[in-house]
Amino acid sequence: MAIVVNGTRVAPPDDPRVSLLDLLRDRLHLSGTKIGCNQGACGACTVLVDGKRVLSCLTLAAQVDGRSVVTIEGLGSADDLHPLQAAFIEHDGFQCGYCTAGQICAATAMLEEIAAGMPSYVTEDLGADGIAISRDEIRERMSGNLCRCGAHNGIVDAILQVATEKVA
Ligand code: FES
Ligand code: FES
Repeated sequence: MAIVVNGTRVAPPDDPRVSLLDLLRDRLHLSGTKIGCNQGACGACTVLVDGKRVLSCLTLAAQVDGRSVVTIEGLGSADDLHPLQAAFIEHDGFQCGYCTAGQICAATAMLEEIAAGMPSYVTEDLGADGIAISRDEIRERMSGNLCRCGAHNGIVDAILQVATEKVA
C-alpha cells in the first residue's frame, strides 16, 4: 500500500509508531504543517485525510495507508493561492503564521461540513434547508484551532468571505 500525499504516493514508515505529523515534517520535509501541543489541543497540525480534517499529531501514519492526505502545500502555492489563503491575507487572518496552515486546512474541511448539512452546537434551526453561515457558526466550528496571536477576528472574516462567495 501507499499513502498519497498531495498527489504523490509515498511508502508508509516501517515503524508503526510514527505519527502522520512526523511523517509529513521529518520524513517528507513538508514543514507547512506545524507542531504545537502535540497532544490534540491546538489544531496547528491539522491536515486533510480523504477531505476530512484530522489532527496529524494524534494520527499514526499507518492509519492513513491507502488514503489521500492533503497538506497546506497541496492546497495552494505562492503563485496559485487557495481562496482561503488569499482571504487570510486580505483580512489579516494571521500574525506570526504558526497556526495558519492548520486554520486553513480546518476551514477547508469545515466549509464542506456545512455544505453537507452537518449541524454544529450553535446551529439554531436543525430543520432548515441548509445551514445559515454566520460568525457564530464559524467560531464554533473552528474552536479547535487556536491562534496564540489572537488573529481570530481576521480568521473569521476571511472564512466568512470565502463561505459567502461559495454559496453566492
Ligand atoms: S500539534 Fe496537533 S493538536 Fe496541537
Ligand atoms: S498567527 Fe500566530 S498563532 Fe495564529
